[in-house]
Amino acid sequence: MAEHPTTPGPDEPVRPEDSGGRHRVYEGCHRQYDGRHQAIAGPEGLSVWVTAQSSGPVQRRGRYLPESVKHPARMLPAIAAHAVHAYTQPGDLVLDPMCGIGTTLVEAVHAGRDAIGVEYESRWSDIADANVTHAQHQGATGRGAVIRGDSTRILSLVPAALAGQVALVVTSPPYGPTVHGLVRPGADGVAKFDNAYNDGTDRGNLAYRDLTGLADGFAQILAGCYTLLRPGGVVVVTARPWRKHGQLVDLPSAVIGAGIRAGLTPVDRCVALLAAVRGGHLVARPSFFQLQQVRRACTAGTPMHLIAHEDVLVFAKTQKSASSAEPKCSRCESGCPEGTSCHADTGVQGNSGRRSG
Ligand SMILES: C[S@@+](CC[C@H](N)C(=O)[O-])C[C@H]1O[C@@H](n2cnc3c(N)ncnc32)[C@H](O)[C@@H]1O
Repeated sequence: MAEHPTTPGPDEPVRPEDSGGRHRVYEGCHRQYDGRHQAIAGPEGLSVWVTAQSSGPVQRRGRYLPESVKHPARMLPAIAAHAVHAYTQPGDLVLDPMCGIGTTLVEAVHAGRDAIGVEYESRWSDIADANVTHAQHQGATGRGAVIRGDSTRILSLVPAALAGQVALVVTSPPYGPTVHGLVRPGADGVAKFDNAYNDGTDRGNLAYRDLTGLADGFAQILAGCYTLLRPGGVVVVTARPWRKHGQLVDLPSAVIGAGIRAGLTPVDRCVALLAAVRGGHLVARPSFFQLQQVRRACTAGTPMHLIAHEDVLVFAKTQKSASSAEPKCSRCESGCPEGTSCHADTGVQGNSGRRSG
């Protein structure tokens, strides 16, 4: 599997002239809080979360333990914070079933929410645990807990009393087995490090499955989350396509399919910026390898653009129809095949990413 082109982990500073062009951003903010994040309504109702006004390292500095940087695909803290503020109230319970170094948990407890996370790799769950403790030492008022385990069996990992209690799930599936991690100059050019979840031999980590296996495992995880969610509870998944043999692999549509199979209703599709907005224009922060990939493609005559955002796929736990326990697509009556756009009744068009209502 090819490397994902846009891992947030590296966060290398980049000159504006390297940003792959400056793009006009929609005017008209409709939501702002904390003085840090805002969502911008686009002309078609698309919500844009302005989540990268500062870089990942700046967002994490002092708030996360330094060893957090070793995780190869961390979520930008502002994305998790935005979701927590947008979809929960203080005292609510937030869950991340694939919590990595605990970004969702840290942002939740700082916002006065309680948080529980599950992570497959002990290496990352230990850091998540330490990050939550660090947040509490800094005055975070929420309670947090981290469990090491396989979230495809999440109902056997968390206390049964949590069923129906979770207000919000914020999570992000792995984008394939190799990610960019960090780079440093070496004798033979630029070398990567901290660019893997584990040694690659353990398929329990969904990062080491193909797209179908990843989507199946993720659907299992979301089905467990469905049971843990309270009625009306929300699931926020961030995802990006990755490139394989030059072609984009459509992870966001696979995530939508997984959510529907788990019984969730897709209710929105937003954009979380990985680029800063300066004077109404986007200023991207691509990694070294992203830039290299785009430049090589352009040199070879293949037009390729930097990806400067995460897709944010929003689901809700709505009432299932009494006639069926299985999630059904009301257009095709047989369940949407993974990766298709048969989501007309929810107002979400699976492949275009635009909310129709
Ligand atoms: C994209 S990363 C999430 C990063 C996280 N949002 C953060 O900011 O640190 C996906 C995580 O899912 C974990 N993972 C993979 N398979 C898992 C499973 N079956 N159960 C629980 N966690 C899993 C990976 O080890 C990885 O840390």
